[in-house]
This record gives sequence, structure tokens and C-alpha cells, in this order.
Amino acid sequence: MTQDLTILGIESSCDDTAAAVVRNTVVLSSVVYGQTALHADFGGVVPEIAARAHAEKLDHAVEQAMAEAGVSFADLDAIAVTAGPGLIGGVLSGVMCAKGLAAATGLPLIGVNHLAGHALTPRLTDQITFPYLMLLVSGGHCQFLIVAAHDRYHRVGGTIDDAPGEAFDKTARILGLPQPGGPAIESAARHGDPKRFALPRPLLNQPGCDMSFSGLKTAMLRARDSVIVEKGGLTPQDQADLSAGFQGAIVDILTEKTRRALAEYMALTPTKPSFAIAGGVAANGPIRASLMALCAGLDTDFIAPPLHLCTDNAAMIAYAGAARMHAGSVDDLTLSARPRWPLDDRAAPMLGSGKKGAKA
Ligand code: KG4
Ligand code: ZN
Repeated sequence: MTQDLTILGIESSCDDTAAAVVRNTVVLSSVVYGQTALHADFGGVVPEIAARAHAEKLDHAVEQAMAEAGVSFADLDAIAVTAGPGLIGGVLSGVMCAKGLAAATGLPLIGVNHLAGHALTPRLTDQITFPYLMLLVSGGHCQFLIVAAHDRYHRVGGTIDDAPGEAFDKTARILGLPQPGGPAIESAARHGDPKRFALPRPLLNQPGCDMSFSGLKTAMLRARDSVIVEKGGLTPQDQADLSAGFQGAIVDILTEKTRRALAEYMALTPTKPSFAIAGGVAANGPIRASLMALCAGLDTDFIAPPLHLCTDNAAMIAYAGAARMHAGSVDDLTLSARPRWPLDDRAAPMLGSGKKGAKA
């Protein structure tokens, strides 16, 4: 990057209210207010509750991010905000907050695609060069992207139904484990036997890089019910074994499909490949370890951003906003919220919707 840019980022597309200030590739502050407790009784994110909580917390998140960064609005070059995809009420809350700030300060406003924020994170954290292959894997998304430029993405495959984070969360509910399900299952699985239950690996033997996780979730329900019929309930060991089996299946699917995505990437871009992961599920230790081992065997650079920049945050939005601004592309106060906004506009829309809303 040439010119110094200091950007305020705002993120509110799902269940985290976040604000951050980023100067070039330095994260001056990154504030995230989670909403897990607000949704805990409902078994998933309730869009209306999420939107109200964002509206209440956004001002505080911005104020805190500015204070922690030690900057005033006069020090900023622009305000970047997630304009989609995501839950419409939350995205609107963020966009309205950013518009208010832009109108009051006269700063440029930049609408950022949330997925671009995740996809560009390896450049923020590790300054890797384009192009690279990315696995974006979260509660609402699962796709392989070739990232050729800040605004050029080619989707080489992804889920045809649930996202893995959604499957982790639903499986945790099935097993009586707390939300968010990913960390709960990872922790339970540490003491489990992954071989005790034979669980499917949907689409693993089909060609291509598409994935499916809904059949695995149904298989988990059956496996749990068979234990309950036999014993009248689940012991902690049953929970651990089921968790280990489930996590093992996800590791196998993501690893094998990454192998194929890398082969497709190599066919299109025959340089030494870099492979990066992002999204909340990329926080999972065994998934990271397996993908790292795969890359080591294929002489491929492996980049995994630190966990707090893998999950939803506003630093990635500020950074993606800076990339647009460097390219001379900013929005004005007519910016609108887009609940569906695929990164690769040529890609066919994905099927279905989950707890996190539309999948792009
Ligand atoms: O990227 P993220 O913060 O939000 C979006 O979905 O955009 O990802 C949240 C998802 C949740 O489904 C959560 O269960 C999952 O990431 N997750 C994990 C882990 N930590 C968070 N999944 C597996 N293992 C983890 N350690
Ligand atoms: Zn996300």
C-alpha cells in the first residue's frame, strides 16, 4: 500500500457488534461485543434481537475503538462498514451508524462485503501477495475462493447446504452442549473416541470441491437417539465420543476438499500456492492442524490468521475498506444494505439458508 490510511471499521452482520481502527496493516484497536447470552435461550441467533442489540451497542463500540486507538475523527481517512451479506436488521444498523458518522464528519463512506473482509484478512495479518486460495469457513459460509485482487474472487466450490459452523452449533444442541457449538464440541472431543460411531462424509467421494454437511447433522441425531434408546441418556463419555466422531468427519471433509481445491487452483494459477483460512471454524485446532499438514505435504504456504481475526471483527472490514479506497472506490450516503451479496458475482446462488441467514 502506498498512501497511509487510517480507517474506522464497523461490523454488525450477524451476532457480533464490532468496531476497529486500522492504520495500513496495523490494528490500532479492535472491539467486539458478542451477543451469545442474548440468544442462548433460543437455540440460534434471533435476527430481531440481534438488530436491536447492534443498534444499542454500535455507538459504544465505536467510541471504545476510537479511544483505544487514541485517534479522533480528524485523524481518520474514511469509515468502512459491512454492507452485506448478513442478517438485514444487523447490516442496516451498522450502515445507518456509519452513514450518520460520515454525514456528521464529512469522511468518505465505504461499504464492504463481509466475505471480502474475511478473504483479505491474510493480507492484513501476513501481508501475503495475490493470488492465493482461501477457505472461508464460518457459521454462515463455507467456500473456496481464489483471491486474485481485492475485488476479484473466483469461487471453486463450497457447501451446497449447511455451513460447518452451523453444523457444529446444531450438533452441540443435539448433544446438550453449550453455544457457540464449535468450541464446546472441540473441547468435548478432546476426551472422545472418534471411531466409536460410524458417521458419513457426504460428497467426499464425489468429484469437485463442493461439500455437504446436513446429512452429517442428521446422522448425529440418529447416533444420539440410538444411545438414548439403549441407555436412557447421554453420559459425558458419550458426548465426548459423538463430538470426536463429528469433528473427525468435518476434518476429513475439509481436508480432502482442500486437496482438490488446491489442485484446481494449481491448474489455473501454476505458481507456488499460498493457502489461507478464515472464519470462525478456522479457530478449530484439529482442523487447522490437518490443513497445515496437508499444505506441508504439498509444498504450499499455509496462513492461518490469529483467532481473534478469524472470527467476526471490524479490523478486517477497516482493512478491506482501505483496499477499496486505495483503488479509488468509495461510496456515498446512498449506500444500501445487501442481505445477499456473493463475492464471486458469476457464481450460482447457494441453496438454502441457516441460522445465520443467507449463505453467499
Ligand atoms: O466467523 P464467525 O465468527 O461468524 C460467522 O458465522 O460469520 O463464525 C462463528 C462460527 C460459529 O458457528 C462457531 O460455532 C464456529 O464459528 N466456531 C468454531 C470454533 N470456534 C468458533 N467451530 C469449530 N471449532 C471452533 N473452535
Ligand atoms: Zn463472518
